[in-house]
Amino acid sequence: MITVDGPSGSGKGALSQLLARRLGYRLLDSGAVYRILALAAQRHGVVLNDCQALVRLASQLDMRFEITADGGRAIFLEGRDVTRDSRTERCGNAASKIAALGPVREALLHRQREYARWPGLVADGRDMGSVVFPQADLKIFLTATLEERARRRYKQLKEQGIGASLDAVLNELAERDERDRNRSVAPLKPAEDAIVIDSTDLSIDEVLEKVLAVVR
Ligand code: DC
Repeated sequence: MITVDGPSGSGKGALSQLLARRLGYRLLDSGAVYRILALAAQRHGVVLNDCQALVRLASQLDMRFEITADGGRAIFLEGRDVTRDSRTERCGNAASKIAALGPVREALLHRQREYARWPGLVADGRDMGSVVFPQADLKIFLTATLEERARRRYKQLKEQGIGASLDAVLNELAERDERDRNRSVAPLKPAEDAIVIDSTDLSIDEVLEKVLAVVR
């Protein structure tokens, strides 16, 4: 079991996918779980501060992850493909808002722990090493400067054909980081026994090699 935590745009998503592929492990994208819940709230007309209704939605959340023919990942909510919708900044922001609610996190806890099965798991998120899988064999906390993370996210959005300005992406990331770091439940911070890697000046392959060296 390997956990990879860090802020948006640190490269943790890409690192987790590469690690899972190299080691033949399962992958849990816990950010996607919060994003799917945000989309479910939107679909069912639940406002983002209605904690009780969100907890109900979370406990019945009908979500599915699939590997596509080209090796990518597809996300389904109630049988509908929401891969694209789930990746927008708007959805990420909504996810960050509901993720600040303790009872919602609690309701999603066992859904996430279900993924810890043979042959192993790479869990990607904010609190994977600190709260969800404190017994993990290896905990990575990936960081990068805000500017570099904004540049990466901007490039990614452009590649996906999603329009945004670099300034807007940077401001939204800063706002989201602030909320994720300062919330009272499971705030974004490295677990005490995590290895912190700054990826600002590293390519994803260099980060991967560093982590694989530790695994070995
Ligand atoms: O990693 P991401 O950008 O897909 O995550 C979207 C939001 O979900 C993030 O801003 C905070 C929340 N989140 C969380 O609180 N805990 C996690 N383990 C993963 C994501």
